[in-house]
This record gives sequence, C-alpha cells and structure tokens, in this order.
Amino acid sequence: MKRTTVTLHTKFRIGPVDPRIFGGFLEHMGRAVYEGIYDPESAHADADGCRGDVLDVLRRLKMTTMRYPGGNFASGYHWQDGIGPRETRPTVRELAWQSIERNHFGTDEYVRLCRKMGWSPMLTVNLGTGTPEEARNWVEYCNCPTGTRYADMRTLNGSEEPHAVKLWCLGNEMDGRWQLGHVPAGQYAIRAQQAAKMMKDTDASIELVVCGSSGIGLESYMEWDRQVLEHLGDLADYISLHRYVGNPNEDTPDYLAITSSIDRQIEEMDAACRFIQAKRRTRKRPYLCFDEWNVWYKNHETDGRGKIAPHLIEEVYNLEDALVVAGFLQSFIRHADVVKIANLAQIVNVIAPVLTRGDQVLVQSIFHPFEMISKRRDGLSLRVVIDGPSYEGATNGRVHYIDASAILGDGELHVFLTNRNVDETAEVCVAVADRAVLSRKNAELLTGPAHRAANSFEEGNVIEATPFENVEIEDGQARCELPPLSFVAMTLNLN
Ligand code: AHR
Repeated sequence: MKRTTVTLHTKFRIGPVDPRIFGGFLEHMGRAVYEGIYDPESAHADADGCRGDVLDVLRRLKMTTMRYPGGNFASGYHWQDGIGPRETRPTVRELAWQSIERNHFGTDEYVRLCRKMGWSPMLTVNLGTGTPEEARNWVEYCNCPTGTRYADMRTLNGSEEPHAVKLWCLGNEMDGRWQLGHVPAGQYAIRAQQAAKMMKDTDASIELVVCGSSGIGLESYMEWDRQVLEHLGDLADYISLHRYVGNPNEDTPDYLAITSSIDRQIEEMDAACRFIQAKRRTRKRPYLCFDEWNVWYKNHETDGRGKIAPHLIEEVYNLEDALVVAGFLQSFIRHADVVKIANLAQIVNVIAPVLTRGDQVLVQSIFHPFEMISKRRDGLSLRVVIDGPSYEGATNGRVHYIDASAILGDGELHVFLTNRNVDETAEVCVAVADRAVLSRKNAELLTGPAHRAANSFEEGNVIEATPFENVEIEDGQARCELPPLSFVAMTLNLN
C-alpha cells in the first residue's frame, strides 16, 4: 500500500485534552455492581466488600469520572432506598432490566469506591419516575454541610464530610420510548429545568448534564436537542450524547470506518449548541458529554427475569471491536475543544473491558486501546493532516486507511495510529512541520491473529498490547510499518 504521511504542527492546536474523556460508567445492571464491583462473598473482597482483583485491573485504565447508578436503571431509582443500614434497605422489583435489586450498594458505597479509585463521582438523577425535588434532596445529601435534614442523614450514615459530587446528569435517555417516564422534548425540558434550578440553588458549584439525543437514528434527533437546550438556557453546562456501534453485517472495512460517523455526530451536536448560543445571544455555551459509548451488538440479553444479578449483555470483544474503541477515543481527542467528558459504557461484566467468572478476572480486547491512550493523555490535541490511501466504506463513506490523532505533551508527542486495512501492512511517516522528532520514547502495538480473535478465560492473551520496536527516526521524522488491523500508540521526543 502507498505510504501515508501524518503531518502535524505544534502551533496548530485544537485544545487541551480534558482528562474527563477517560471516564467510565457503572450501572445497576446484570453483574456490573453485584459480582463485578461489589462481592463480599468473593475470596478477593476487600474491607468494603469490593472485588480487589477487579479494582486492581481497572486502576490500569486511569479512569477519571465514573457515572452512576444508570443508565435506564436511574429512571426508576429512588436514592433513599440505597442508604442507611443494609438490613433496613428495601428489596425492590427493578423495571428497566426486570431484575431484583436489594440495594446493598448505594450512594455511600459508591462514593467510597470513587475515593479509593481516584474517580470523581458523577450521579444521574431520576427524572423518569422521580421528582425534581427528590433530585434536589440528593444534592443536599451529598454536598451540603451538616445542619439540615438530608445532610444530617449522610452524617448519620458515617460521612460527616460532604461527598462533594460536582457532576450531575438530569436523567437518562429521556428521548427514548424504552425509558421509564419517557416524555416529549418540551415536557422533559420543563422537568429538567425545574430540577436544575433547585439543584443549583442547593449547591451553586455543581455542573449539570442535560439529556441530549440518545442516538442518531431517532426521529427527534437534533430537534430534541434544540428544544431542550433552548429551554434550559444557562442551566445546561453540558449536553449528553450516546452511541453504541457494531458489525452485524460482518463488513469489517465499513465497521472500522464508523469513526467518520462518530466525528459527524459530535460535530452535529456541537452545531446544535452553537446554534442555541447564537440564538440566545449569550457567552455561555454548553459542551459535549459523551456519557455512554462502546461497541454493543452481539448480546441482546436485557431481561433479568426477576433474578438478582442476572447475566445481562456480557459482550465478548474481539480485535476489530478494540480498533473501533480506539477510534472513539481518537475522535474525542480530535474534538478536544468541545468534548469535555466521555464515559466508556460500562466497566465490568456488562458490555465491559473486564469480565469476572467466579474468582477469575479476564481482560478483554477493548481494555487495551483505552489503557494505551489513557496513559498518554496529558497535553494539547493537535490538528492532524493525513495524506495517503483511502477507501469507501459501504455505509460510512470514504476514510483513510490510517486513522490518527496526536497529543502534544511536555517536550514529547503522543501519536495514535490505526491501520484499518484488513490485508496489507501500512507504511506511515509522522512529520512535525516545525520541530524534529529526536527519538522514540516508547511505543506499543495492538493486533491479533484474526479480526474476530478474542481473549477468553482459557486463553487470556490472544489480544494484548506488546512493545513496538519498529519505529525508525530518520531526518527528524518517525517512520513505522503497521501490520494489517492494528493500533499503535507511541510517545516521541521532540527537539
Ligand atoms: O449501557 C446499557 C444501557 O444502554 C443504558 O442503561 C442505557 O442508557 C443505554 O440504552
């Protein structure tokens, strides 16, 4: 294949990469919380009843914000069910996933987990079956000093210091008919505005994420966002985007071209935000919070059949899925000026980079690109100009075989490259127009024996990142050869 040149200039900056784009999402769904994160019966349980082995693996991802408790679950959740002594907490019928919820894990356990992991908490209030006042009360419980009803409850439950939860989502996917309490845009906007005002009156320092369109295919796409943003006005700090993708037609080149559609989704939502900002003639503009994203198309088991911690959507991930996960993150980096928060959905067992089976833990393929990028995330996103061969994806249009993004760190440059070519090695040259590349600091490669190859409990290292030595520095440029279907993350020293 003809060589690809990736050209950068250290002054051509998109913006600082917000560390919050490396967030995660923990929902009361299937075996995510129970048997995933929290399992006092496990041989690996720590003093809080959390799975120490799972937490050790997750630490490698250096996740930042952790969204909780849902998801669809949030739209039927009453937070007071999950506080206080465990024996007094109710067991309830959970309607989003038709499961039984015993509420053994709730707000205080979640905040303790966040502190232990270095995650910043991000709570989704119930605007489905809950009231704006219930949402406000949760803010008081978490954030206010003692001396009033809900803050005193927190003290009684062992935390005199406020939990200081900065980020709050005003409901979840309220545009979807599947959502408990779904209403048309105008009605959601009124409910969200009422909640937002009371929540900010309770703690003016919090930031709010309003529900945006939960998918690009919905009839209300963009019109929902216009109405909601217009009504919420300055109360909206962020608007949410969700996206789950897959390869149901077994068309790998088209699947890997999905990045162009993710780029477009971000740009369309940004256009909606700018439109409303212009219409309202205000300096304040909402930014984007991509608070659910991942590959999800193989496992559709969402009915818990009245069980506690049923096996739901335990997707097994392969090499091509890992390349698509790299593509999401590359797209967020390329849009660092507008995407400020993003949450991989989810973190364990439910569409997750980590699976548990009894006391075993498995790292899935999608874990690796997240780790490879997350550890090189500090700095400024640079504009990337790609000159090289391209192809036409059946539904996603024309893309370069090489997908790329770059972050300028302190005296170093992080470069991310995906070779979408199924059969051919790609020769790539990285040139920094105003600087010389001096040396390779480090580089890693992710590839595998076949596009559908995956890790399993029997064979856990089929898809894993390995050191990549094959980066040559010549005439101040970096050159490398990327195997077919591979992802490389490298850090280069600049002059
Ligand atoms: O992540 C699984 C589910 O997908 C979430 O609960 C919901 O928000 C989305 O539809």
